[in-house]
Amino acid sequence: MSTLNILHFPDPRLRIKAKPVEIFDAALRTLIDDMFETMYAAPGVGLAATQVDIHKRLLVVDVSEDQDAPHAFVNPRIVTRGGVSVHDEGCLSFPGIYEQVERESHITVVAQDGDGQPFTLEAEGLMAVCIQHEIDHLDGKLFVDYISELKRGRIRKKLLKQQRQAS
Ligand code: NI
Repeated sequence: MSTLNILHFPDPRLRIKAKPVEIFDAALRTLIDDMFETMYAAPGVGLAATQVDIHKRLLVVDVSEDQDAPHAFVNPRIVTRGGVSVHDEGCLSFPGIYEQVERESHITVVAQDGDGQPFTLEAEGLMAVCIQHEIDHLDGKLFVDYISELKRGRIRKKLLKQQRQAS
């Protein structure tokens, strides 16, 4: 397994819309393993393939405290949604940035696993927030798109400065 490089905002590749996964092979399962390793090493609770510059509809999530509840979603779709919840969200593509975002509090997701087997999962709380955040990534949408243009501009400046200092 290996860790993958995570793209940071405002990298334009974070805006690419991901394509459906059609081939469920060993390479896909290796990618899923690498995405888990990358997410756990960061550490984070969710990672979309878009964030590692792979534009396929695939994401991984683990909201447990002990990093022992891995969930991989291939071609995920939200089929029911309801309620409202507001959470402080962060994102591995936005180091050190946290913003309140309003999302649905209960969702039902249909997806496939790494072998192509379909499954359905009902989620609420942090899990529901995380899945919605990661599916947004696959559509090229970012959590800062839910906040004001002014705040987003400030975040862009701050991250660009961090990136200049790091390089
Ligand atoms: Ni994110």
